[in-house]
Amino acid sequence: MSGSKVECDSFSVRNDAPVADKAGTIGDNTGAHEDSVGKTGEGPNNTSVPSDLSTRARHEESQGHGSVVATHYNTLEERGLAERCKSRIFYLRNFNNWIKSMMINEYLSKSWQGKPRGAPMRVLDMCCGKGGDLLKWRRGNITHLVCADIAEVSVEQCQVRYNDLQNRSKNERGFAPVFTAEFISADCTKVRLRERYKDPSMELDLVSCQFSFHYCFESLPQAENMVRNAAECLRPGGYFIGTIPDAYEIMNRQQNTGGTFGNEIYKVEFQCDMKPPLPLFGAKYNFHLEGVVDCPEFLVHFPTLVKLAEKYGLQLIAKEHFGDYYQKVKEEGRSLLGKMQALETYPPFHEAPLLGHVPDDYEHVQQYMQKSTGHRKVGTLSKSEWEAASLYLVFAFQKDKTWRRAEERSECGDRREATKKQVSEDVSDSSVSKHLISADPTVGGDGENL
Ligand SMILES: C[S@@+](CC[C@H](N)C(=O)[O-])C[C@H]1O[C@@H](n2cnc3c(N)ncnc32)[C@H](O)[C@@H]1O
Repeated sequence: MSGSKVECDSFSVRNDAPVADKAGTIGDNTGAHEDSVGKTGEGPNNTSVPSDLSTRARHEESQGHGSVVATHYNTLEERGLAERCKSRIFYLRNFNNWIKSMMINEYLSKSWQGKPRGAPMRVLDMCCGKGGDLLKWRRGNITHLVCADIAEVSVEQCQVRYNDLQNRSKNERGFAPVFTAEFISADCTKVRLRERYKDPSMELDLVSCQFSFHYCFESLPQAENMVRNAAECLRPGGYFIGTIPDAYEIMNRQQNTGGTFGNEIYKVEFQCDMKPPLPLFGAKYNFHLEGVVDCPEFLVHFPTLVKLAEKYGLQLIAKEHFGDYYQKVKEEGRSLLGKMQALETYPPFHEAPLLGHVPDDYEHVQQYMQKSTGHRKVGTLSKSEWEAASLYLVFAFQKDKTWRRAEERSECGDRREATKKQVSEDVSDSSVSKHLISADPTVGGDGENL
């Protein structure tokens, strides 16, 4: 693996290219924006395309990719713990889950700050899936949760999980009652969620969109609708957080390999014309992650996301690659790392053999242990898993503290001065160059947290 810097790639060069002007059209949601969706060249008359592919392409063109994604997640079987333990990506999934926990804890804590005792804490889990984060919301003592997802079977399973949580909590003494919840089955890139809330005037404290936001970069209207859903009900000072693949990292790996890339765990295969400049929206690739994902996704051009977000009163306050975020919060999250089994023990215990079988999967940790003294066992991720995890970044936006919705402004006859942009000192948007692999993804300390 290279630790070298990523120089300006075509995706960033594209900022200066004519299509970059399209970013300037953001806000002009008239449909005049031209994106690449529907220009796959796989029209009905293209008989050279195998019939199942051409059918799928036609379907995607007419429906957008939402139905393909929904079908994929709807048919994904929920696996029990025993089954999950056997998975090659057991630790990767736990690690990703740990990152989410740390983020959710961080921004829930910030959201609680300054709230009077007994005040409500309302959250939107946008693209909630089967409710993998319900326990995190429970532990965060929120009072109300909105769960929304395009895959209706997943939403049903999420509701069943929530009901279980509620039933179990009836027997728990001394705990606050479980939060109230509502469930919405909808394409968050096309539907205005606010109109589906039980109370459309509800103010949210936090919006979380985990491992999903990238689906909306299919087109400008879809991305804009998604951002509006994230922003419009957030209270001033509220947070929008999420995790997405880093488009620059993907482009860097694509350019290094000249095409499809990945390893035995994940694969990225581009499905759009790779000749620069790439489109800001609809830059499609298929993402395959062993046993859990096999779907079309879209590159998220981060500067464009920042512009869109600003239009809806959201200011970027944090953007970090998983490796950097891990380094930042690992001490604080050490005991949770152990509880969630987010890292694999090296050398392994007899009863738990290593999951990685590729020869250099543990080379980094062998070198680490040779250099350091006193570590009998450490926690790590195999190189193959780390290559998948290090594709991702965490982001956080904060709603302008002085923001008022346009219709609110006119309804209330708000005479305040124009909204002042809140400048956050935390902004860390400048870095497009990142290491492919963290210098040290291991956790020292004799594996005491494992
Ligand atoms: C990788 S899963 C993540 C689920 C959940 N956020 C988590 O972290 O466990 C991606 C989810 O995004 C949902 N999704 C994809 N496109 C969507 C859309 N346009 N509207 C709503 N949900 C969508 C999928 O149905 C799926 O549940």
